[in-house]
Amino acid sequence: MASPYAVYDELRRETPVSFFEPTGQWLIARHADVNALLRDRRLGRSYLHLATHEEFGREPEPDFQEPFWRVIRAGMLDVEPPVHTRLRRLVSKAFTPRMVESMRPRVRAIVEGLVDDFVEKGGGDLIAEVAEPLPVTVIAEMLGVPDADRHLLRPWSADICGMYELNPSAAAQHTAVRAAAEFSDYLKGLARARRSAPGDDLISALAQIEELTEDELVGTCVLLLNAGHEATVNVTGNGWWSLFRNPAELVRLRDDLSLLPTAIEELMRYDTPLQMFERWALEDIEVGGVTIPKGVEVALLFGSANRDPEVFADPDTLDVGRADNPHISFGAGIHFCLGAPLARIELVESFGALLKRAPSLELTREPEWNPGYIIRGLRSLDVSCE
Ligand code: HEM
Repeated sequence: MASPYAVYDELRRETPVSFFEPTGQWLIARHADVNALLRDRRLGRSYLHLATHEEFGREPEPDFQEPFWRVIRAGMLDVEPPVHTRLRRLVSKAFTPRMVESMRPRVRAIVEGLVDDFVEKGGGDLIAEVAEPLPVTVIAEMLGVPDADRHLLRPWSADICGMYELNPSAAAQHTAVRAAAEFSDYLKGLARARRSAPGDDLISALAQIEELTEDELVGTCVLLLNAGHEATVNVTGNGWWSLFRNPAELVRLRDDLSLLPTAIEELMRYDTPLQMFERWALEDIEVGGVTIPKGVEVALLFGSANRDPEVFADPDTLDVGRADNPHISFGAGIHFCLGAPLARIELVESFGALLKRAPSLELTREPEWNPGYIIRGLRSLDVSCE
């Protein structure tokens, strides 16, 4: 978990398609295979939607998780066409490149406020003070969550994400179920209020759509909050940590801020925030001469795909000017990240502001990692900016 990249090297070379006993998953390590399987409709996001438990010979999940999955599986990430197509179309109006570009001035203002405070007090924990509040504020404003309630969002999201880790503990599962229930009640209340008194926000817009069920509305908002900030926080943390370990690249970027767009893509490739996503094989599928049987879980190793020497020259070298960078950190195919244009704006603005306003940013102690493998990120990153 501390550094999975050497393990990925070995997997790609020796067993690019392999069964991993401890988790019962098939691991896919090469870029070409990950990219192809993300676009392959013979795999689904959730076996629960496409086949019965009996068909795959699985035990139903314990009942206490039911309210959690009810919320999560109503969002577009966990459904297949035609439901996916319908949900994504409804929400994507808010995420067109033009709509998102129009948010840049507001994103910049939020970044400037956070970075000014941070620099003024000489630094602190970059995760808690800049990386987290930025995307949470942006998505909360977009959804229309009132200021006074925003402190609730980050803990709900973190608790819900606990369910996505490999083998979550019973305590983590209970916490995730409780958080999903609380968040869901909160969103239902907000949607009811906005239905009668709409504002200029996404929840109001979604609440007006009659064909959207209450579960779908809640599932969409929970997805937007979780997807909309967890990974962005981790690109900021992992990205700065990568720059600190590659000081020549940090200097190169600081001296030429026109490299920011390629640098952001490279930081997302070099230390991938979402290390893997799962799919389920809905048929027997042959990959690289190996047959993956119907019904099993397939783990697409994004972190490994992003270091594949077949696709990236010198994959273990951080190159903030890397031009040809088809990294897979935003996924591919029908579930390709809806928020990618927004994430890119947030990241370019926040790295740009810190590079400009805190030219002497320095690490003050080794960072701490969060315990998870799938969602890879730092718990804290203490820096000074004299
Ligand atoms: C889907 C990554 C930021 C909203 C995805 C997927 C990935 C991803 C890998 C696809 C998962 C799969 O195929 O199973 C990221 C990364 C981000 C980021 C690395 C930050 C750097 C955002 C933001 C938003 C967002 C800011 C919205 C505000 C979504 C949504 C989906 C999604 C709604 C589901 C799309 C669908 O199922 O059609 N994201 N994301 N993401 N992301 Fe992002």
